Amino acid sequence: MQVTIPAPKASSLPGQSTQYDILWISQQNFLKNEIQRITSLPGKDFLLVDENVMKFHHDLISDVFSKPAPIIIPSGEKSKSFKSLSELSEKLAGYPVRRNDRLWAIGGGVTGDLTGFLASIYQRGIAFYQVPTTLLSMVDSSVGGKTGINLSQGKNMIGAFYRPCAVYIHTPFLETLPENQKLSGLAEVFKSAVIRSPALLRYLDDHVPQIRNWDAEILGQLSQMAIKVKAEVVRKDEQEKSLRAILNFGHTLGHAIEAFLNYKKLTHGEAVSIGMAYATYLSYQRNILTGKCSQSLLELQKNLGLPVSLGKIKKFDRTIAANLVDLMAGDKKNIDDDLRFVLINAKAAVFPVKIPVQEARKRLEEFAKIF
Ligand SMILES: NC(=O)c1ccc[n+]([C@@H]2O[C@H](COP(=O)([O-])OP(=O)(O)OC[C@H]3O[C@@H](n4cnc5c(N)ncnc54)[C@H](O)[C@@H]3O)[C@@H](O)[C@H]2O)c1
Repeated sequence: MQVTIPAPKASSLPGQSTQYDILWISQQNFLKNEIQRITSLPGKDFLLVDENVMKFHHDLISDVFSKPAPIIIPSGEKSKSFKSLSELSEKLAGYPVRRNDRLWAIGGGVTGDLTGFLASIYQRGIAFYQVPTTLLSMVDSSVGGKTGINLSQGKNMIGAFYRPCAVYIHTPFLETLPENQKLSGLAEVFKSAVIRSPALLRYLDDHVPQIRNWDAEILGQLSQMAIKVKAEVVRKDEQEKSLRAILNFGHTLGHAIEAFLNYKKLTHGEAVSIGMAYATYLSYQRNILTGKCSQSLLELQKNLGLPVSLGKIKKFDRTIAANLVDLMAGDKKNIDDDLRFVLINAKAAVFPVKIPVQEARKRLEEFAKIF
């Protein structure tokens, strides 16, 4: 299957006029052929690859990228930092990488976000290709043009909108992905379903046992359906002027949980999953969603094995609620004193909903007791 993100309007992204394709390639040989087709074009190719992907898929990768040796990106959020960015920039300049050369990111969202941002600023922008290897990057982060790194004050605080030249999705990479990382991606699929795709929500509900077994064919289907949702949103609002913000469903609390846990213990998607359960509870409390609908969404989340409880963090008390609310208030999406949430009705996302800090804290304490 192929999905195309069309060229942006002339004024929206200076310097980047091309459309890009997202291609699903199930056979290893076809993936190799496609990569070799690009690497035989004029210009040189430089690969940045996640350390675990290099370990598990060494033969495939070294078959296609032999020289220069791939640059290994250490696993984890710490790689999305100024330190890595500056070391990598020096490395590229040392080869030297020139403006008509290409960068390739083979890995999850960390490798993709870091490489994409590096490509956006190195010599004022060079070409880059994405080969996502986690479920999360296959269903979400590799598409949409957001790139960036973290600051100690928050995730993705420094970044750019920068389009890849193409995205190649090869689901057999998922065979080596740990269970908690698969759940992380599944949470983003659930998000896409709830905010914009009743068909995807039905598909999830109809295939719970196969999904719990991580059936390869079903994962391929999920990735195609979820990317279609993201592509449709991004086509309408690439630079998050309005509609794209709905992709942040569950992320206001999710990001706060990740920061509170110092990016350890829970994956991004698991934290977002708890954030979605809280946003569903807020939607019910605000009379946007009926009790019946909120119950059935929470049941489906649990059936899929996605976490919904703050008990996953540690024994919850009022200090933790206050900490999480402070972290949410510091979130870059909040431009005044109220918190901004993406809530949901029975069919789709509702945004922005302003919720005063006091109300968010009270609901968080209730949510912690109920779930
Ligand atoms: N740009 C966007 O639009 C966007 C959207 C959502 C999330 N993100 C970002 O994505 C990042 C999270 O991405 P992620 O969930 O892919 O995590 P990740 O890139 O950290 O990868 C998760 C883990 O899986 C390992 N791994 C990757 N592929 C593997 C494979 N095939 N087999 C075995 N192990 C493998 C990695 O080494 C790592 O330990 C976060 O930084 C988040 O902010 C960006």
